[in-house]
Amino acid sequence: MTSPTVLVVEDEKLLRWSLREALSDEGYAVLEAADGREARQHLGEDGVDLVLLDMRLPDADGLSILKDIKERDPDIVVILMTAYSSIETAVQAIKAGAFDYADKPFDMDRMMVLVGKALETTRLRREVRALRARESEPYAFDAIIGESPAMVSIKRLLRKVAASPATTVLLTGESGTGKDLAAKVIHYNSDRAGGPFMNVTCSALTETLLESELFGHEQGAFTDAKKRKQGLFELAHQGTVYLDEVGEIPQSLQVKLLRFLEERSFRRVGGTRDLTVDVRIVAATNRNLDRAVQAGEFREDLYYRLSVMPVRMPPMRERGEDVLLLARHYVDRFNREFRRDVQQIDPEAAERLTAQRWPGNVRELKNAVERAMLLAEGQTLSADDFQILAPSMDTDFRLPPAGIDFEQLEKQLVIQALQRSGGNQTKAAKLLGMNRDQIRYRIEKFGLTD
Ligand SMILES: Nc1ncnc2c1ncn2[C@@H]1O[C@H](COP(=O)(O)OP(=O)(O)O)[C@@H](O)[C@H]1O
Ligand SMILES: [Mg+2]
Repeated sequence: MTSPTVLVVEDEKLLRWSLREALSDEGYAVLEAADGREARQHLGEDGVDLVLLDMRLPDADGLSILKDIKERDPDIVVILMTAYSSIETAVQAIKAGAFDYADKPFDMDRMMVLVGKALETTRLRREVRALRARESEPYAFDAIIGESPAMVSIKRLLRKVAASPATTVLLTGESGTGKDLAAKVIHYNSDRAGGPFMNVTCSALTETLLESELFGHEQGAFTDAKKRKQGLFELAHQGTVYLDEVGEIPQSLQVKLLRFLEERSFRRVGGTRDLTVDVRIVAATNRNLDRAVQAGEFREDLYYRLSVMPVRMPPMRERGEDVLLLARHYVDRFNREFRRDVQQIDPEAAERLTAQRWPGNVRELKNAVERAMLLAEGQTLSADDFQILAPSMDTDFRLPPAGIDFEQLEKQLVIQALQRSGGNQTKAAKLLGMNRDQIRYRIEKFGLTD
């Protein structure tokens, strides 16, 4: 790395000179400005990392220059210097984004220590930002695969949601429909992308643990609280908190969450102070919250607060051709991962994939492709490679309490299979897990010859 550049903005010639000497000795590149105009010139041209800024300049007020700097590049660190310090100015300066504040006259050695610390802070800040940017790459809008009308409109909605960084979002949809993915895409495409993304699965923790996970606790708040702990809401300041399976939040915490959503303030467990943070809540559930409200298991007021912006992730079976689009996407991905070279999915396999109900949605499809890739030997995935899929549909069939007319159901299934295969008996038989003789027998039995 090249040596950091420090800009000294100071009208007193002697002080400017001694700062330059000390900074050069430390190995920094130094720029000098005697007033606000010169300072702005340097800021416009050069890659400044840190500014030592005099509070009172002949033509400008240090605070206004500080604000300009922060607007231009929030990563530049500023240390203010003043001979007329007051608590108010100090508070104003820190609020406006100054790293620190030094009273004149100051000890030069100490000033150099302060500069060193400040520069270390910028370096870390930039590093974190770069890491976050890299981390966010997989969460561009393009990461959400789907061209079906249902998905096109969901993606349009997600763009709007991302663009309004304070809005609470409620993602609903069956398991595996992409709620986690959508939450990350919202975060990484919003103004909050530079801030943290924190998630918690509400059903995974006991009530006490969940409460302290979300709100934090003070030392001694309960038996295991050996030390003060910050909660996710605090840690996610200026970022996003993703509350997965929010429908499973215990009643007592529902009240606290409601208060937080209404006021953005909360107390740590065992705490007496109200803390305020700036976070967006994205909640997700695969439960029907309407029904949970009716059953008295979920607070109605919380439900309304959460569902300001409801986004329903459509199940796989409503996405038509997306099934194949996703299947091909995963073929590409597993080709890379497994160093394979699968080129295509044969028509029969494609047909079978499209006809599946996919109760586990994209997650299930992804697993199915992964398995098929492990089974397949050549460059084509055949229906046989997906064979294992066949039984998945009867696992979620439940015999209704009143029972069924088995023959009628059988007949309906045969008719549907024939329709789907365009009358091709071999294909229809495969869809039903039968051989040709078995389906022929039923076609005769039910008089379906035409
Ligand atoms: N539209 C989509 N495009 C690409 N991948 C998807 C899509 N929807 C879901 N996935 C993938 O499917 C898997 C399950 O999605 P996830 O977001 O965990 O679902 P949920 O949270 O609704 O259970 C993940 O690997 C996710 O990346
Ligand atoms: Mg999930």
